[in-house]
Formats: sequence, structure tokens, C-alpha cells
Amino acid sequence: MQVFAILPAAGLGTRMAGPQPKQFLALGGVPILIHSLRAFAAVERMGPIYVAARKTEMERVEAQVAEYGFAGRVHVVEGGEKRQESVAHALAALPAQDDDIVLVHDAVRPLIDTATIERTIDAAAEYGAAIVGMPAIDTIKQVERTAHGAVIVATIPREFIVHAQTPQGFRYRILKSAFAEAEADGFVGTDEASLVERAGHPVTVVHGSQVNLKITQPGDLELAEFYLRQRGC
Ligand code: C5P
Repeated sequence: MQVFAILPAAGLGTRMAGPQPKQFLALGGVPILIHSLRAFAAVERMGPIYVAARKTEMERVEAQVAEYGFAGRVHVVEGGEKRQESVAHALAALPAQDDDIVLVHDAVRPLIDTATIERTIDAAAEYGAAIVGMPAIDTIKQVERTAHGAVIVATIPREFIVHAQTPQGFRYRILKSAFAEAEADGFVGTDEASLVERAGHPVTVVHGSQVNLKITQPGDLELAEFYLRQRGC
């Protein structure tokens, strides 16, 4: 059984102020994407890693991959307009067998740790599909959007809520057929698990961490710098 990783890194990062897509911003002097790659490359049973980058940024990503010593181990493929399309492109390029494991991880979650990746691989191997998630801390409201904002429709008991993070890991055959089904139905999800769920396969949740934040908005980078310093990096 081989383990592959896909890191979608083709987003525009429109919620982050500034001209630079967030996956290229530096964290402790090292690009965010490289932090994510290092975490995956440090996992002993990790096989080839695929990064999806925007067409216009592929050369830059390839140069970074070489500069940080990942040439040969990390392959760069062209991303798409949606995250799902970026992952689909990488999935099409994987030389994987049905029983292999494929992990998908947001390139913009640079603080993922090796132990969590290992736990995701183990759970994906055991159950076929597993994601990293965090129990909800806040009270969760379902709302209806209005012209003035939102009105609460219901309160969802938070013991039933998990915030989905990445990595999300699957047997190749399960992920591949869920992607094919979604494409045939014109379904677009914001994570891989949603595609696998609708295909009828149960998805297990592995406990994540607050530190595994997704760098999305201004302020997240400062928080990530703080966590990085705490780690002593
Ligand atoms: O902002 P969003 O949740 O879409 O980003 C999650 C990850 O998906 C980021 O690493 C981003 O670069 C990636 N992405 C992508 N292709 C897109 C949109 C997002 O690879 N078209």
C-alpha cells in the first residue's frame, strides 16, 4: 500500500489583503507551501506528493520545490478554477492503485504535524475514509440570509458539529469514484469528504488541533507565526 499526498495550492487568496496568493507568503522566512510540504515529506511512509498550482505560478512553485530540496519527490500539476478541479487534476496524475491511500491537504495549513498525518493515514486505511476535524466550541446557529444580514432559524446542538480540517485521507478507489460521481452530477463541494459522503461512504473523524489553522484572513499569519515560535522553529 502506497501513500500519496495532494496539496491544492492554486487558490487566489482573495480574502487575504495583498497581491500575493497566501500559499506563497512567508512564515518564519519560509513560504507557507514549503512548511506544508515539509510536514508531509517528514512522514516515513509518504510516497509521491502532488501540488496543484495555477498555470501562471507553476514555474515559481517548481523553482521553490527544487530550492527546498523536494525535486523528484514533489510533482507540480496545473490547478483549476475551483479547489475540487485542482484536486481532480492531481488525482488524474496519480499513478495509484485501488488500495493506495490518498491524502488531500490545504497548502495553506502549514502547521499540520506529522502525528496527525500519521493518524489520518491509519484511519483512512482502517475505514476507507477519514478527515481531521475539531469539535465545535461556540454555539452553532443555522441562519437565513436577509438583506440586513441574517436571522436565526435554529440552534444546532454543538455535540453534533465538527469543523472539518485537512488532511482528508481516502482509499484511492473510494476518492476516485466519488470524484467521478460528483462530476457526472455537477456537484461541487468545498472538501473531499463531502463528495465521498454523497457517494454513500461513511467518513471517520480524527481529532485535529487549533494550531492546524487555515491561513485565510489578515491576522492568521501573525497567529501562525506565534504558533511557530512556540514550537521553537
Ligand atoms: O480558500 P480555499 O478554502 O478554497 O483554499 C483551500 C486550499 O485550496 C488552498 O490551499 C488553495 O490554494 C486551494 N485551492 C486550489 N484551487 C482553487 C482554489 C483553492 O488549489 N481553484
